[in-house]
Amino acid sequence: MTTSHASASTFSDVSARKSACSAVVGLQWGDEGKGKIVDLMAAAHDAVVRYNGGANAGHSVVVSGSRYSLHLIPSGILYPGKAAVIGNGVVVDPWKVVEEVDGLAAKDVDTRGLIISDRAHVVLPYHKLEDGLREDLLNRSNPATAEGAPSTGSGNIGTTRRGIGPAYADKCQRAGAVRMRDLLRRDALRERLSLSLAVKKPLLSGLGLTDAAAADVDLNALTDKCLAVGQRLAPMIQDTTQLLHGMLAQGKSILFEGANGTLLDVDHGTYPYVTGSSCISSGIGTGTGVPTTRVSRIIGVMKAYTTRVGSGPMPTELNDDTAHRIRERGREYGTTTGRPRRVGWLDLVATKYSVMINGATGVALTMLDVLAGFDQISVCTAYEIDGKTYDYFVPDAIELSKAKPVLTSLPGWTQDLSTVTSRDRLPDNARKYVDFLEKYLGVPIQIVSVGPGREQTMIAM
Ligand code: GDP
Ligand code: IMO
Ligand code: MG
Repeated sequence: MTTSHASASTFSDVSARKSACSAVVGLQWGDEGKGKIVDLMAAAHDAVVRYNGGANAGHSVVVSGSRYSLHLIPSGILYPGKAAVIGNGVVVDPWKVVEEVDGLAAKDVDTRGLIISDRAHVVLPYHKLEDGLREDLLNRSNPATAEGAPSTGSGNIGTTRRGIGPAYADKCQRAGAVRMRDLLRRDALRERLSLSLAVKKPLLSGLGLTDAAAADVDLNALTDKCLAVGQRLAPMIQDTTQLLHGMLAQGKSILFEGANGTLLDVDHGTYPYVTGSSCISSGIGTGTGVPTTRVSRIIGVMKAYTTRVGSGPMPTELNDDTAHRIRERGREYGTTTGRPRRVGWLDLVATKYSVMINGATGVALTMLDVLAGFDQISVCTAYEIDGKTYDYFVPDAIELSKAKPVLTSLPGWTQDLSTVTSRDRLPDNARKYVDFLEKYLGVPIQIVSVGPGREQTMIAM
């Protein structure tokens, strides 16, 4: 185990392999600490690339005590001179990008490395309206499954209301969908918006659109708004697939930054309580045009416990003092929406499934410090569903909502871990906890994180 005080440079020393590409993916229901791990690994790569999701993501990075919350802009932006690429698989709210660029500039962050795919789909104001109105309607029609209540396959999703689902749906619907490059072509843009509004206006009225939001569905107002934001972002919009392949041809290395998490993946997650994109490592191919075979290192990020935001089954969820303690110690409130995150013991069954689905070559374990002070710590190593024991994950929301966790109890520790700098200096029980996880998952835990800062990290790669 190599110790990392100034982890960014240590990571480069340990792991720089030019033209080797890496990926960071979430192994749980999001918010695993991907932003921190991407920030660390970015030091050893030439570009950081987002391939999925949109402004539903909230990736926090803490550098020298300053906290940055990134939603659409890749976490690598904090390194001047590196390319920070938003790939074609991302749904881009261009006004959010401007907000983020301006916010970073106000903190003296150089954002000139930002590049956006000309083929990324645009999240328009009516996507956000649709997202919110749908959620409200679903909530009204089925209050028993309102957000946070046990879910059995109906009710609202508890989305971030950032327009993600409607934007991806329109991408598949095709007619009238707007891509980033269209923001630079007045006539094509107007034509697309006109087509789209022909469908959206009656749809949104039916869902309860208010007069206050009328400008968002007015063709002239919307066209002008889109052209204005397009003009602002024009220097950043290009064919990112060509760009990335050009970099690879020059022997440069790329880090792919997954958003959301494997259990929120539209195909492999707890459908329908998922997001609209391919969050897993295979999403890199479709979301950037770089074949996944170019990625030699896939780091799955997991917390030492489990959290979830929004609706859907979560077998290890707790609603007691333990949950409260973990939530407060871990500051478990959403980076994007501020919602309190649901909290529970570590679900190893789910995490092992995610390791498998992603082909993770290693794991980054975060938030180990948060578990200090418990006499006993539980981990879920199997489920019981209708009297049958499952030692593998069941990605079906209805079945999973019936799962009772089979828990294994491990002894806790009292010591503060936030300044521990190597795995062999962890208190005995904390080390045994990490060893237990590693053995169960069957992949090396290569990074252990004990605080939000870069220096609060132990790396062995
Ligand atoms: P992401 O969406 O996966 O990037 O994760 P978020 O940024 O939404 O949430 C993770 C939170 O935990 C952020 O506030 C991080 O600053 C913080 N964090 C990351 N790693 C650690 C850690 O090891 N310990 C503690 N206490 N906080 C951490
Ligand atoms: P990061 O990248 C945690 C959840 C939402 C909701 C569901 C669908 O920060 O880990 P959406 O708005 O995507 O249609 O919502 O997915 N969700 C996340 N939860 N972290 C995220 O991103 C998430 N992105 C989406 O809470 O349950
Ligand atoms: Mg987050």
